Amino acid sequence: MKLELNSPLDMHLHLRDGDMMKLVAPLSADSFAGAVIMPNLVPPVSSVEEVKSYKIRILEACGDRVFKPYMTAFFKNYTEEELTQLKDYIFGIKLYPAGATTNSDGGVKAMQEAEKTISIMQEMGIPLLVHGESHGFVMDREAEFLAVYRDLASRFPKLRICMEHITTASAVKLLDEFENLCATVTLQHLIITLDDVAGGMLRPHLFCKPIAKRPEDREALLQAALSGHSRLMFGSDSAPHPIHAKESCGCAAGVFTAPLALPRLTTLFEEHGCLDKLQGFVSDNACKLYGITPPVKKVTLIRESMEIPTAYEAHGQKVVPMDAGCVLPWRLA
Ligand code: DOR
Ligand code: ZN
Repeated sequence: MKLELNSPLDMHLHLRDGDMMKLVAPLSADSFAGAVIMPNLVPPVSSVEEVKSYKIRILEACGDRVFKPYMTAFFKNYTEEELTQLKDYIFGIKLYPAGATTNSDGGVKAMQEAEKTISIMQEMGIPLLVHGESHGFVMDREAEFLAVYRDLASRFPKLRICMEHITTASAVKLLDEFENLCATVTLQHLIITLDDVAGGMLRPHLFCKPIAKRPEDREALLQAALSGHSRLMFGSDSAPHPIHAKESCGCAAGVFTAPLALPRLTTLFEEHGCLDKLQGFVSDNACKLYGITPPVKKVTLIRESMEIPTAYEAHGQKVVPMDAGCVLPWRLA
């Protein structure tokens, strides 16, 4: 049995830079026709020059694979002139609340300060991608941030706002309240809850921000994805960290899923009898929402077992994937 996907897209991806990027970028490019590339490097990607040179490095790392990096810039208070220059080189601008996650110290401290730039983005048609977490209690951070989404969505009705990596039933509900909101969801948040991370032995390779939530949250996310919700897209948030940064006291946040994302998603959609909804989730919804035309690329999955490697290693880097050592019923052709 085979399944063919047309131009699958990963709408939220961390590729890092240097040797780590050389290891992980080809793994994404083996599965996907393109991806929205997060800008949280050190220092963050925030100028035309940085966007252009990062894109070139990504393409070099992907070799002759068909792969389109949809670049983003790190949100700061850009002037109209800066946005005019950036516009042609980026897919959107990623807003992080200061300190919310990995390499986000330079993020936004108070939303009011961001309004001028956001309003110019609306006029120019530049999408705003948001890491939506407050600084509250870890399980409540996304729920507390929903008020900010509500405010943005109602005050900037023409702005395309993407709630990145949603993890709660309330976020799914909010999606239906505003036409200009859309969302990405990761593989892990469709599968795990906080119990999988910390309910038994602590599993650092499942630790990410936002943290996985309750069973009812996972269920709401899953039902939205399986039902083909037109404003929900796959965004892996695959976030590689070197093994020593994960298996340590002070574990870095991020789950590395890029190489197993499509086989695992196919398994999940098949288990629920919803394979017909996978193409929309991994590509068509995003194309319609953002009006993008990714490169033509057929990606075939075969119903034969795939053993997920215990680690991916190259260029002096070693990264452990989610579900390392497990066997999936589907693999990439
Ligand atoms: O778990 C996460 N890791 N969440 C993020 O928002 C950032 C990411 C990273 O860059 O490692
Ligand atoms: Zn991310």
